[in-house]
Formats: sequence, structure tokens, C-alpha cells
Amino acid sequence: MSETQTHQNAAVKASFDPANGVATLTLAMPGKVNVLNDVFGHGLKEALDWAKGREGLRGIIIGSAHKDFCAGADIDGLYAERDAARMHKVVTELCALYREIETSGVPVVAALTGSALGGGYELALSCHHRIALNDARVKVGLPEVQLGVIPGAGGTQRLPRIVGIQPALEMILQGQELRAPKALKGGFVDALAESPEALHQAAVKWIHENPKVKQPWDEKKLRIPGPRPGSPDARNIFMGACAMIAKRTAGVFTAPKRAISAMQEGISLKFDEAMKIENRYFVELAISDQAKDMIRTLWYYRNAALKHEGLPKTDDAGLASVAILGAGMMGAGLAFVCAQAGMKVFLKDIKQEALDAGVAHFEAELAKKRHLDDAAKKALRDRMVPTLALEDLEGVDLVIEAVFEDLDLKHRVTKETEPRLSANGIWASNTSAIPITDLAAASAHADRFIGLHFFSPVEKMPLLEIIKGKETSEETLARSLAFCRAIKKLPIVVNDGYGFYTTRVFSAYILEGAQLVAEGHDPVLIEWAARQAGMVVPPLQVFDEVTLTLGLKAMKQGRKYLGEVVDNAGTALLDKIVNAHKRPSKAEGAGFYEYEGGRRKRLWPGLAELAQGKPELTGVEYIADRLLFAQCVQAAHCVADGIIEQRRDAEVGAIFGIGFAPNTGGPLSYMDRMGLDRVVEKLDALAKEAGARYTPPAQLRELAEAGRKYLED
Ligand code: NAI
Repeated sequence: MSETQTHQNAAVKASFDPANGVATLTLAMPGKVNVLNDVFGHGLKEALDWAKGREGLRGIIIGSAHKDFCAGADIDGLYAERDAARMHKVVTELCALYREIETSGVPVVAALTGSALGGGYELALSCHHRIALNDARVKVGLPEVQLGVIPGAGGTQRLPRIVGIQPALEMILQGQELRAPKALKGGFVDALAESPEALHQAAVKWIHENPKVKQPWDEKKLRIPGPRPGSPDARNIFMGACAMIAKRTAGVFTAPKRAISAMQEGISLKFDEAMKIENRYFVELAISDQAKDMIRTLWYYRNAALKHEGLPKTDDAGLASVAILGAGMMGAGLAFVCAQAGMKVFLKDIKQEALDAGVAHFEAELAKKRHLDDAAKKALRDRMVPTLALEDLEGVDLVIEAVFEDLDLKHRVTKETEPRLSANGIWASNTSAIPITDLAAASAHADRFIGLHFFSPVEKMPLLEIIKGKETSEETLARSLAFCRAIKKLPIVVNDGYGFYTTRVFSAYILEGAQLVAEGHDPVLIEWAARQAGMVVPPLQVFDEVTLTLGLKAMKQGRKYLGEVVDNAGTALLDKIVNAHKRPSKAEGAGFYEYEGGRRKRLWPGLAELAQGKPELTGVEYIADRLLFAQCVQAAHCVADGIIEQRRDAEVGAIFGIGFAPNTGGPLSYMDRMGLDRVVEKLDALAKEAGARYTPPAQLRELAEAGRKYLED
């Protein structure tokens, strides 16, 4: 019997077994992942040609030597390319290669022993059959829209022809990634296997049983699951998708809109014509400013933050136990997150009711963890000890203080509890605005005192803003970062100052919302303008959620640090709404909005009477400018004042902490994109017309005069 033949190039290890007639092309790019670039394209093409030249070839299996099958596009290449013609060449060459795979005349099987995402999943779609390893880490999906582009290697055309229009739209518009069993259920893969060996055997068997297979779109008559293209039902699905996108994103993201167009226009055409449509839309998006800004922040900056680039590291944080002070909204969430990370947790309050509520919250979170069995749940529960007794905290490695936002109270609990810390223990405050250095005044170990500012709800919000006080040591920061990694949060590290970074920018946003109401702008228009600017949640809605009462308290505290600048018509309006009209929050059922049964119903009509009159200048564009620039100017101050050390943190903090318009890439990206000279002009005009808070800092003027940007490429 003849021997197995082998072939290898820079991207693929290939072998051919004459005994069964099957060639196996194993993607094995240098490094740890397979990504789509020139090396990949040439290597796969060459290996495919080699396989096609084998005598007695009956079929091809495409697999991977790495943990993942293929991670998708090489983001560096995608980010760098600005030229439409070159981008078009790259993408059409890849599409031609994928087309060659499916028309090679023999059955081709994708062996998904690891995740297949983006262009990697599109490669699997260009195979005739997909078998995935039944393993929790294996996922398939098309996440492209999250970076401002659409699938560009046939995803918008092959997927709907395989699984139907509706499921394909759901995956592409939401950038979904599905685990193997769910993918099987929806038809996103065709079969599961329990081991890599079983997978290979199943692939060989399938090849032998399906010698004449063709892709459905290469058959004489295409049948796709679900409604037929062009039918009233299909039209309704596309219309529904457009409406859903408009509602969810106010239409500010281009990519999902183009994905719908590509699919709708392409689905009734012959396959090769349909691909031309996808190619065109892909190229338009891939070279667009929006995609570049989104990729920079949501890919590069986010990854850099996750890897703690430029930040101190330690191998041993020495933080096995934690005490959370205050079992309120933040404390209860923190207790769960820490216990989940395997730490011993003491949840301490001074009131039994608060503790009971904290425990109830913990249980509710635990109940949501359906993948945990009873023993794992019990272990998690046993790690959390609710207590009223200070003695229980003896020897803890970390304290996270989350009592009421009050400097004197925070000083008191520091003095009282700090002596209980272990010898090298760390004290962290979850204050949302009080300078860490001021809080550390009550500490005997200011070098081990730090700010860990979480966001609500703690379980869901990814960001952790870490604030260095004047005396916080590098070691304390390094250990806090290790803690941040253990609880799986995304860190930004900033310097001290009232409101740090995120609270300063966020407060500017919601207070500007109140100020606009006070000036007489239509509240409906204010909310809509915010969404049109890309803000994830409009200002009056989110103000109700964080509570207007908190706003008033923060103003009182802010006066101490910022002086009278915090007083304007907006704060006077807040005072009236809360104190005269008893409308403190969503939780209390009344704020800027009216609520029924806890659900937001409509903006409170009484707002009109609290306004000063009718403004001369209004409209969506004007209001959107006010809301965005109120935040941008604060971001600029934070850079100028040195609160922001690494500029990426301004972008990551704004987008992941406070829902700043993700379509812009963040406040610094937004200003850079506009051009800093135009930004200065705009801010000067707004300062004249709407208030001195818009005045740009000197550093911004200098950058503008020098023709520079905040984020140099
Ligand atoms: P909360 O009012 O829900 O809870 C505070 C808890 O502290 C109460 O249960 C109270 O009984 C307890 N407490 C008071 N004195 C205590 C003491 N001496 N020892 C132990 N417990 C004591 O407050 P929330 O919203 O959880 O906020 C806590 C801290 O977190 C504040 O500094 C706040 O500014 C900050 N924060 C709040 C965010 C939010 O969205 N609510 C977001 C980020 C930070």
C-alpha cells in the first residue's frame, strides 16, 4: 500500500492518505493563531492546489494545529488599509480562494476543533460540511459589526443560504458567537464530535458518503430554509431587522445597516453576483473613519487594557480574603463578584436589614448561574460570610469600602477598620468622586490605600477605574491590578482629582441634560439627540436611574471641590424636581420620566413648566453638540490635568464605563476626527453662548495650533 504523502508551507501542513483518498489541510500559521492575511491566502491556495493534484483524491478536510480553528481577519492589515482599490483586491482574492474550495470537485469538510470566528467561520461556510468538537471552548460566529465592518468573505451570502434569512441576520447584526451545541441546533454547524479523532473519522466517513456534493447555491435550484427570498415573509423579516437596528442604535452605526442591504440585495442573485454586492459594502466600511475609530478603541485599546500594557505587574497579589464594607447596591454586587473569583468574602454592614438585602441579592445572582451544579453553588455560597461584627474582619487582605458617599463617615470607618487588615493588606475605596488622597488622610498606611471605582450593576459592567492617591505605592497598584484580573474586569488607571475621570465626564453629560431642560429645549428632543450622537443611554433616562437625589448630593459635595461653577439653571431645576415635586428617581417611580409598575412610560409633562422659556437656538444637531462637547471638554481637562496618564484610558473608560458613543471610538477620537482646530472653534462658540464650562483647556489650544492630535497613529 502506498505511503502517506506530505506537503508544508508557511501556513498549512498538508497530508494525503492514498488509502482513503482524503487530503488533510491543517492550518498552522507561525505563532499561536491562524489569521487571514497574505501568508494565509498564499499558503492555503498552494496547499489546495497540491491536494487537487493528488491521484485518487476523494475529499479534503480543513483543520487547525492551533487552539482555534481560525480567529478571522488580521486586524493590523484591516486597520492600516485606507485605499479602496487595494482593499478590494485583498478581499476579492480571498473570496476567489474560498470559491475555489467549494468548487474543487470533491467534498470538503471543515474540522472545527477550535473556534471559527469572522473570516475563519466564513472559511468553514465555504466547505460543504462543518463538524465541531463538542467542547465548551469551541464557538462559531461573525462578530465583524462590533468593529464597524461586515463579514467580507462571503458571510452575508453563504450564511442565509445555509441557515435561512432570519437566523443569519441575527448572527450578523448582533455579532453573535455560538457555542457548538447551540450552533448545531441552528444549523450553523452540521454535526458534533466528542474527540478530535472521532471528528476526523466522521469527516472521512462523510466524504466517502457524499462524493458528488455541491453547495446548495451551486445546485440547479436553490432551496433555503425559512421564507423564500423575495416572498412577503422575507420582506417582513428585512423590514423588522431595519426597525430593530433603528431602535437599538438610532441608526448611528453604519455596519449593521450595510449588512442588511448586502443580504437583501444579494439573496435573490446568482452567487457570484451576490458576492460583488458584499465586496462593495465591505470595502466601503473597511476604509471608513467609523471602522478605524471603532477598531482602535474596541480592539487595540481594549486589548492593551486587558493585558495591562504599560502597567506594573506582580506574580503574587496575596489577596485571598476580602471584606466589603457596606452591603448596599454596590457592596452586595462586589461580594458576589469576589466570591465568584474564589476569594473568601466578608460582607459587613451596620444594619441587619441591609445585610439581609445583600444576601438576597447574592442568592439572586447565584440562581442565575445555571451552568453551576449544586456543589459548586454551595462552595460559592460558603465563601461569603455576612456579618455585623468588626472582629470577623481580623486579618483580611483587602478591604473595599462601599459605605455612603460621605467623607467624614469614610474617615471614621477607615480609622475603625484599618487596624484589622493583614500585615500587608490593601484598603480600597469605591467612592465615586471623593479624592483618594483626601480619604487616605485617615489612613495609617496611605501607600496601601487606593481607589477601586466600580460601576453599577457590578456583575455586568466590565470597567474598573483604578485611582492612585498621592501616596499609593506601585506595589499596591500592581496588586490591585492582579485583583482586577482575578475578578475579570477591564482596568483603566488614573490619577487623583475630584470625580477622577469617569465621574467627571459622566456628570458633565447628565447635568448638561438637566441644563438643557431648564433652558426650555424639548426633553423628547434632548433624549433623541443624545441617541443620534451615539450615546448608549440618553441623559434624562440615565439620570433617573442613578437617581436625581444622588445628583443633588454630588452637587453639594462638588461645591467643596469645584466652587460655584457647579451651580446653574440645571442644578436649580434638579432641586425643584426632587424637593418641590418629589420626583427623586426611577426606583421611586418618578423622575424626569413617569413610570408605571417600574416601567418607563413617558417624559413627565410638568418639565415644560419648570423651564425658563423657549430657547432661540435648538434642534437635534445643536443639542447633540452640547451633550457631546460637554463631555469632550472634560476629557480634555483630564488629559491636561494629568488625571489621564495613558490616553487609551480616556477612550476605554468613556465607552465601557459610561456608554459614550461607541461609534466615535471615544471623546479623544471624536475630537481628533473633527480636527482640533475646529473643536477649539466649536468650544469657544459654545462657551460664549451656553456657559464657561465649555472653555477649552490651554493644552487643547496648543495641540490645535501645532496641528496635532490626541491620539497619534
Ligand atoms: P448604598 O446606600 O446602597 O449602600 C451603602 C451601605 O453602607 C448601606 O447598606 C449602609 O447601611 C452601609 N453602611 C453605612 N455605614 C456603614 C458602616 N459604618 N459600616 C458598614 N456599612 C455601613 O450605597 P451604594 O450605592 O452601594 O454606594 C456605596 C459607595 O459606592 C458610595 O461611595 C458611592 O458613591 C459608590 N458608588 C456607587 C455607585 C452606584 O451606582 N450606586 C457606582 C460607583 C460607586
